[in-house]
Amino acid sequence: MDSNVVDYSTKIPNNVGLTQDRQVLRALEGWHPGYLNWWRDMGPEGFQEAMVYLRTAYAVDPRGWAKFDYVRMPDYRWGILLAPAEENRTIPFGQHFGEPAWQEVPGEYRAMLRRLVVIQGDTEPASVEQQRHLGKTAPSLYDMRNLFQVNVEEGRHLWAMVYLLHKYFGRDGREEADELLRRRSGSEDAPRMLGAFNEATPDWLSFFMFTYFTDRDGKMQLHSLAQSGFDPLSRTCRFMLTEEAHHMFVGETGITRTVQRTCEAMREAGISDPTDVEKVRALGVIDLPTIQKKLNLHYSLSLDLFGSEVSTNAANAFNAGLKGRYRETQIEDDHRLENATYPVLKMVNGAITKVDEPALTALNMRLRDDYSADCVKGLLRWNKVITTAGIDYQLKLPHVAFHRQIGEFKDVEATPQGELIDAATWKKSEADWLPSASDGDFIASLMRSKIEPGEFASWISAPKVGIDNKPGDFEYVRLAA
Ligand SMILES: [Fe+2]
Ligand SMILES: [Fe+2]
Repeated sequence: MDSNVVDYSTKIPNNVGLTQDRQVLRALEGWHPGYLNWWRDMGPEGFQEAMVYLRTAYAVDPRGWAKFDYVRMPDYRWGILLAPAEENRTIPFGQHFGEPAWQEVPGEYRAMLRRLVVIQGDTEPASVEQQRHLGKTAPSLYDMRNLFQVNVEEGRHLWAMVYLLHKYFGRDGREEADELLRRRSGSEDAPRMLGAFNEATPDWLSFFMFTYFTDRDGKMQLHSLAQSGFDPLSRTCRFMLTEEAHHMFVGETGITRTVQRTCEAMREAGISDPTDVEKVRALGVIDLPTIQKKLNLHYSLSLDLFGSEVSTNAANAFNAGLKGRYRETQIEDDHRLENATYPVLKMVNGAITKVDEPALTALNMRLRDDYSADCVKGLLRWNKVITTAGIDYQLKLPHVAFHRQIGEFKDVEATPQGELIDAATWKKSEADWLPSASDGDFIASLMRSKIEPGEFASWISAPKVGIDNKPGDFEYVRLAA
């Protein structure tokens, strides 16, 4: 079979020849009902019967891989899709640099590899759980459809990781696959594995911040895993990245449209001071300082996902050839990093100091730096909207020491500018830097669902172009009667 084409004749669409792989097919068919139960319990609440204009992958060729049609979400064809195999691919980094990529799990690295797959897999259903209430307050059918698209694709990403577990990790892989359906975001006794995936996504601005900042962490992790010497993981992640791009598009344009609407409303009302929060809010839009606070929150939570700046786990995964760097193959060095160093921000004698660390143990820091550089691009666009409207305000990424729960800065308090402060000062100023309960209440008060085609809530502009080039009044979601 041409592995560029997806076989839809089977219950589980795939381009991995599942029909010839009876054992794995049976294992996945055994897992399927539990997945559907999970989706019905934890997927978008109140919209399981709605017909949603969704894209589904029919091929893995990046030039043309998706088709759009109305689908009831529980009927979505979640499948297993690997990017085409690269002929004669070699391991691009670590101790096995230059050796042929592995098609089977190397025994000595089995546990480490399984853990990487499970951690990635755990984030996928977590975000669906975090976002399950948002359909009810969608600012338009266009946005509602985008939310559901992100949700079904995160479901597919779970399938992607579960396939690897079933195919390559035998019984403990199957157990891990079951656990992925058992844990719940925010649960007391069975939480998701990473902090940011147990936080609430209470409103649509949070959703946009999440897809911009937290899905972008996903992008960085997938890029590093796409370099993996374990070829099936590499191929899976490469295809996931194709889908992931849309999630970040939803975040970036969602924030752009929010900022745009705020600026327009301010101009129309003749308000030039962006910090006159009450006046701006009275217009039914979200004031820029509150947008900045949401940004501070989601960026700092997402930084925590990169783990400790200095980490032997990261070094081991790199040495083993399991997890590389962002764009590893485009970096010009020895790809082994035995003698290299990398500058790391650390706490030294009570001050934030740049220290050269062995590059191998500083890989989390490096990936986080690459991430921060990637985050800046959206800020430039948002700030351009603000400047063009003639408003004197700029959104900024907070300092990496601000509001951290993991790594070097978890025991200190710092301002968004990176100035160290004591606990009392933090307490006094926290509400200026992070969304307060009353900010949350205000945003919640704006979250009114708009379900007429072409209609948008007061706080957000219409998008410039529709999905799949559809016109502005296209009915992206046909709600169940
Ligand atoms: Fe994902
Ligand atoms: Fe995503």
